Amino acid sequence: MKKLAPSILSADFSRLGEQVELISRAGADYVHVDVMDGHFVPNISFGAAVMKSLNKCHISPYDVHLMIERPDDYLDNFITEKTAYIVVHQEACVHLHRTLQNIKSKGVKCGVAINPATPVSALEWVLAETDLILVMSVNPGFGGQKFIPSALEKIRQLDQLRKQKGYDFVIEIDGGITLDNIRDVADAGCDIFVAGSAVFGAEDIEKRVQEFKERMDG
Ligand code: DX5
Ligand code: ZN
Repeated sequence: MKKLAPSILSADFSRLGEQVELISRAGADYVHVDVMDGHFVPNISFGAAVMKSLNKCHISPYDVHLMIERPDDYLDNFITEKTAYIVVHQEACVHLHRTLQNIKSKGVKCGVAINPATPVSALEWVLAETDLILVMSVNPGFGGQKFIPSALEKIRQLDQLRKQKGYDFVIEIDGGITLDNIRDVADAGCDIFVAGSAVFGAEDIEKRVQEFKERMDG
């Protein structure tokens, strides 16, 4: 079953609660939370306080994408009753295996993201321990960028690896996803689709969520 995770980075922050309830009601499977620290990526977004406020709303579970250095120091802040996944970057973790164990020990699922320049092979020895692999199809830091097509090949590689070796991680894509390319990404073997500007930039956000869901299920 394919899943949609709209990124609130492109939401209207003056109406965040309302918009997050809207996408959740429309069928968003996860709420994708982009946390940026101005060090790992050249931008600053928002932190755990925003998630804690949103917990008061009727919303889908969080898929938390930490684009930050030293994620271990901050994990506890992002673990709330609505947190499903915490995803860290391979490039930000010197002791990635330990970080993943750490996340799992706190009772949430763990994920690893790889930047466009990072090969799938960099994950070889954590694939068995990881619940989710996030393939970045833009360089992280900003919404509204153009999809980098080499991400498709990485998704195919990951899908093949999990079939060959019996791993049970899910594959997520993030960056530049639109109604026009989501089908190709789904066909490559992707399970969870992040979309920011293509969802929140739509005139009718609810309708756009439904269009995405129809398109990804083919
Ligand atoms: C990029 C973020 C993405 C971004 C996606 O650093 O991780 O989640 O918000 O936005 P779009 O869909 O507009 O590329
Ligand atoms: Zn993201």
